[in-house]
Amino acid sequence: GLPDQVTIWEVGPRDGLQNESVSVPVDVKLEFLDRLADAGVSVVEATSFVHPKWVPQLADAEELLARLDRRDGVDYPVLVPNERGLDRALAARVGHVAIFASATDSFARRNLNRALDEQFAMFEPVVARAKAEGLKVRGYVSMCFGDPWEGSVSRGQVAAVGKRLLDMGCDQLSLGDTIGVATPGQVTALLGEFGSVERIAVHFHDTYGQALANTYAALVAGVRTVDSSAGGLGGCPYAESATGNLATEDLVWMLDGLGIAHGVDLDKLCDTSAWMAGRLGRPSPSRVLNALRG
Ligand code: HMG
Ligand code: MG
Repeated sequence: GLPDQVTIWEVGPRDGLQNESVSVPVDVKLEFLDRLADAGVSVVEATSFVHPKWVPQLADAEELLARLDRRDGVDYPVLVPNERGLDRALAARVGHVAIFASATDSFARRNLNRALDEQFAMFEPVVARAKAEGLKVRGYVSMCFGDPWEGSVSRGQVAAVGKRLLDMGCDQLSLGDTIGVATPGQVTALLGEFGSVERIAVHFHDTYGQALANTYAALVAGVRTVDSSAGGLGGCPYAESATGNLATEDLVWMLDGLGIAHGVDLDKLCDTSAWMAGRLGRPSPSRVLNALRG
């Protein structure tokens, strides 16, 4: 059944800003992070320690974390693909990292420059060292419901990748619908591949307008952590057809209607996303933001 409470894992500063063609000044990113914390978000994915040539939008990760006002009670995880990324994250005194695997070979090659089977060798020492340093580790799986080059992706293949990340020591798994093609029945079926969903989070992109319906299916199946992005920012520069994540405003509206606690102040969140849309020079795709502020 439905939960009393859900953790919103805000990914706007990372998944959102990694995909913007305009480069956002670090001062704007810092204000974005501050405003999200003020709005009550308890987990904000702050940035990525990936190769700066691969994602130039997040090349300022060191400066961002050095200057970030880390609030008590707010978790600021970052993405790290490899040991070089982990070294950088540790130097920045980060307490929570996320590795990101692919369920398909095509996307592993494009996003990580590794074959499907090679990606695990890159992640193993990252997870082992991060755990030994006392960090929390999330493991993403991308292309869980479809891949732009391979078409549909089998549940068994996704579950095998996910279980491998859990066995490696990841504390949580986030199942990503990178290109937003999933529908609720597929979500229920994929979650059924895992014995328990206690350590599973969901990460839906809203390309086909299914993200909220998929989230509802995941909540019914027992999921308690949902990824979303303020204003619906987002996408993946290495997945052509990916658009923004489920908008946090749309998620909050649904959770409020269901009486599920989440800790976010919708009014402050809308102010933040409207402000960010102004900085980016384009309107937000969030239906709720547009209904409330349009
Ligand atoms: P590579 O070229 O194979 O790297 O890239 P390498 O290991 O061969 O190293 C080559 C050089 O890069 C070396 O330098 C390394 O030190 C350097 P050299 O010795 O030649 O001078 N290097 C680094 N420098 C800084 N930071 C690092 C780093 N790593 C190596 N971390 C690599 C492999 C994984 C690095 C590259 O493919 C990469 O950075 N990929 C990241 C792509 C990315 O960020 N994609 C978006 C995030 S995933 C996503 O959005 C999906 C998600 O939202 C879920 C969903 O929606 O499904 C999470
Ligand atoms: Mg994503």
